[in-house]
Amino acid sequence: MRFPENFIQEVVDRTDIEELIGRYVTLRRTGANLIGRCPFHSEKTPSFTVTPAKKMFFCFGCHAGGSAITFVQKAENLDFADAVEMLANRAGLPLPKESANSARENGVPRKRILEMNLEAAKFFRACLFDPAIGTAGMDYFKRERRLTDATIKHFGLGYAPNSFNSLRDYMRARGYRDDELIAAYLCAKSQKSNTVYDIFRNRVMFPIIDPSGNIVAFGGRVMDDSKPKYLNSSDTPAFNKRKHLFALNFAKNCCAEKMILCEGYMDVIALHAAGFEYAVATLGTAITPDHARVFAKYTKKVIISYDADEAGQNAANKAMRMLGEVGMDVRVLRLNSAKDPDEYIVKFGANRFRQVLEESRTGFEYKAERILSRYDLSVGADKLKASRDLCALIAEYHSPVEREVYLSYASVKLELPTDALRNSVEQAIRKQRREAEAQESREAQASIRHFGDRINSESAQNPRAVAAEETVLGLLLIFEEYRNAVEKGEISLTGEVFMTAFNRRVFERVMTLHGSEAGFRFELLGMDFEPDELGRIEKMEITRQQLSQNGPEVFRSAVESLHEIKKKESMRGEDLNSHLTYLREKKAKLHKGKADTQ
Ligand code: CTP
Ligand code: MN
Repeated sequence: MRFPENFIQEVVDRTDIEELIGRYVTLRRTGANLIGRCPFHSEKTPSFTVTPAKKMFFCFGCHAGGSAITFVQKAENLDFADAVEMLANRAGLPLPKESANSARENGVPRKRILEMNLEAAKFFRACLFDPAIGTAGMDYFKRERRLTDATIKHFGLGYAPNSFNSLRDYMRARGYRDDELIAAYLCAKSQKSNTVYDIFRNRVMFPIIDPSGNIVAFGGRVMDDSKPKYLNSSDTPAFNKRKHLFALNFAKNCCAEKMILCEGYMDVIALHAAGFEYAVATLGTAITPDHARVFAKYTKKVIISYDADEAGQNAANKAMRMLGEVGMDVRVLRLNSAKDPDEYIVKFGANRFRQVLEESRTGFEYKAERILSRYDLSVGADKLKASRDLCALIAEYHSPVEREVYLSYASVKLELPTDALRNSVEQAIRKQRREAEAQESREAQASIRHFGDRINSESAQNPRAVAAEETVLGLLLIFEEYRNAVEKGEISLTGEVFMTAFNRRVFERVMTLHGSEAGFRFELLGMDFEPDELGRIEKMEITRQQLSQNGPEVFRSAVESLHEIKKKESMRGEDLNSHLTYLREKKAKLHKGKADTQ
């Protein structure tokens, strides 16, 4: 969703950037700034700067920079809207109500969509239970997935026939118009033939039900290995996949203490069938801050039970952080010998799963146990390796307090003195830093050789123009009075004068924001620029700030040189044009000459 400008500003104003970044980086005060080691590249001497007064950060090493929102985007790998939400959550700011408009997208009210979904769910279910139509689906659920009739009915599962118009015709007969079916994401319109057809075909269907019992969307799975494996309703006025959790309608009544978060529909269904009715899943999307807030509303503890593969484990790490942000007690399950909870239950049964559940670990414990389980601690050499691996794990935690806590854990497990382990942790920190630095410099060199300037790709061809452009932009970013002068036309400056598209885009956004009701604020650039681009923009600002000469005459002369460069460039263009005209005329004469002699 797109947030109003003043909301974004308020989120930034209410965020203590020092406290926020301090959770990731150990910061030291130097005058008005705080400095520390950059979390986005590795370095020995701190060049990462936070300026609380400006609510900005900038790294002089890797040129990452921007607002608190940019920081969260980079640190948590979130998009702009998610980062804004996460900070709003932290600051306890309620999100602005979605505009009345979006609740009636395409003019189809939410209530009407819910009605259509209910009809469609009935249709899909009837198809599944109809032997003439739904045998393929029924066989799939019962034979392949080992579901009982009771489970199938409990979840309202269904089958979408292998046809382009069966749902459409069923719904038309019940008085639903094509545009309504399209708004509900049950049908789509073919561009070519202009016909309306069913979106879900030859798939087993999972209705998605909200906590009030409304069917808000559907997921549909193929019954073989074809792609795409799942098709999910897009967002409609009744459904936002960033908020909804599959089976929350059951889980919310089941247990206020804890919920299990899985990756897939089938995991949830298998868990519920085995008696774990507090399992939920996100819907074809990674967990978002919205989901985290939903969890916070219904439960205290979340046990993450994602797939055992690399992707699943990475996603689990992200979910751990996001749920931690809203104050959840987060645990992670480690399933051995099964790729996901569904398979685990099928293979080992509910009791074994319950056991694993009870033994679920906090993030650190989960990783530490994984290490310890690889070694036989009664063997000296193994114990040494285990301590090396554990210390490397502890070294990854940036907070010294956290490290101390984990050191005492390791000391107990390994039966080794804390001091000795602390030394190894410090060694590991240095080693990790060296390795990351080497990697960084390899990447930096590769990027110089192969990609040049990735943010402003035209900078190599226009070095002079870029220098002047960045001076002008840097000053415009810092000083409102220059923005005013440009806006009022006291200084003639328009986007056309900029030679490089990136800088032109920056200029135009800054001036548009300046002229808008909200006014220009750096964080608002986050709506239109990627975090890397924001770093470049912040660099222009910081570079100017460090110079003492920033008076109006500097601004004027930088603008003038922009005009000059532009003029020269267009003259070159004119030269080229007149030269081409000359060539054309010459050629025409030649042709004419030939024609004359023939
Ligand atoms: N998903 C999706 N689109 C895909 C693949 C996956 O939306 N093409 C979503 C679905 O919500 C799915 C979840 O990601 O439930 C997890 O995916 P995966 O582990 O591949 O599927 P499972 O639900 O485990 O299904 P199955 O066990 O049938 O393979
Ligand atoms: Mn699965």
